[in-house]
Amino acid sequence: MKINENFLKIESSYLFSTVAKKQREYQAAHPDKEVIRLSIGDVTKPLVPAVIEAMHKAVDEMANEESFRGYPPEYGYDFILDAIQKNDYADRGIDIAKDEIFLSDGAKSDCGNIGDIFSVDNKVAICDPVYPVYLDTNIMAGRSGDKGDNGLYENIIYMPCTAENGFMPELPKEKADVIYLCFPNNPIGVTASKEQLKVWVDYALENNSLILFDSAYEAFITDDSPKSIYEIEGAKKCAIELRSFSKTAGFTGVRCGYTVVPKELVFDGTSLNPLWARRQATKFNGVSYVTQRAAEAIYSEEGKKQTKEVIAYYQRNAKVIFDGLTEAGFTCYGAKNSPYVWLSVPEGMTSWEFFDDLLEKCQVVGTPGSGFGPSGEGYLRLTAFGNYEKTIEAVDRIKSVYGKQFKIGGFVK
Ligand code: MLT
Repeated sequence: MKINENFLKIESSYLFSTVAKKQREYQAAHPDKEVIRLSIGDVTKPLVPAVIEAMHKAVDEMANEESFRGYPPEYGYDFILDAIQKNDYADRGIDIAKDEIFLSDGAKSDCGNIGDIFSVDNKVAICDPVYPVYLDTNIMAGRSGDKGDNGLYENIIYMPCTAENGFMPELPKEKADVIYLCFPNNPIGVTASKEQLKVWVDYALENNSLILFDSAYEAFITDDSPKSIYEIEGAKKCAIELRSFSKTAGFTGVRCGYTVVPKELVFDGTSLNPLWARRQATKFNGVSYVTQRAAEAIYSEEGKKQTKEVIAYYQRNAKVIFDGLTEAGFTCYGAKNSPYVWLSVPEGMTSWEFFDDLLEKCQVVGTPGSGFGPSGEGYLRLTAFGNYEKTIEAVDRIKSVYGKQFKIGGFVK
């Protein structure tokens, strides 16, 4: 038996697992300290009442022979697909057919699994920094080549997103077959305008490339930036969209999302829609009935109102972090259309050094920017998904430790 040797090319631990391990070790060594976690983008508010009510009702249905359900339809029950089609697309003037929507256990799985339908020879382009799953899953699949001394994988096209280019990736110089885009962006927290997205759609159409568009954070958009790539003309011919209920409705533990694969997506004379349908029917057995009813409830009038309130709660946290740290002297990005704040670490420190310093001096856990890619070096990401009071407390601690140092003119390590 031979193993998949691609796994030997990858970092041995997933970024968020490494961060969580460091937090556990610190806490074990300092049991008296209260550590505040602003690292992984995991929600903290409970599911909204409309969702809970729907889940209770669905559980009761499962307790009766007449209403019990066995295997769900592979791609989702009609009731949830109808709700998605109407609310996320038709009501926004986007024409997506029900059989172009595939319900799943979340965007992370889909994002990893979608590679099953592409050749291993495709040239993949990712932003740098980036949500690690895009890179890691392509390494596992054998698309990355080896890691060079510069820390970059030889067959991956990296698109640096830096303060100099406004954190917007530039079009790749060599042809990219598959392009991962995420807006509002994780980890930086900026989003793309319609004009900026159009540049990518035009590129993909001209170059016969496929865009994998992750819009897991669309609920955080506060301006007129597109929530869906299909708001851009021509996108149905070149883009797959990944959506998640995790951040929209607190489903990180419930697990549910969906992927849109338009039938117009045709490469080498083959439509991708039936390929993905075939892949899912074989390797995925559908989302539980209770979860699908929970997801449906997000689209009810009450559900929409209640989830909006929860998003507003996190948006307030984002503002607290952004404003507080800016006041302390940090240069901050994101927050406006996103639950993430991306900040420059003090001069002379690496991302991991600042991570350690922050944990040691403030008992606050962030995510080091370099964990998201080489261009993330020198930054740290904080999330707004925490408890409001604890977020204020974290910001106060950071201000009292680092704010003073800024006042005396630049950081001292
Ligand atoms: C993050 O912190 O980047 C996200 O929570 C990770 C995820 O959604 O899987």
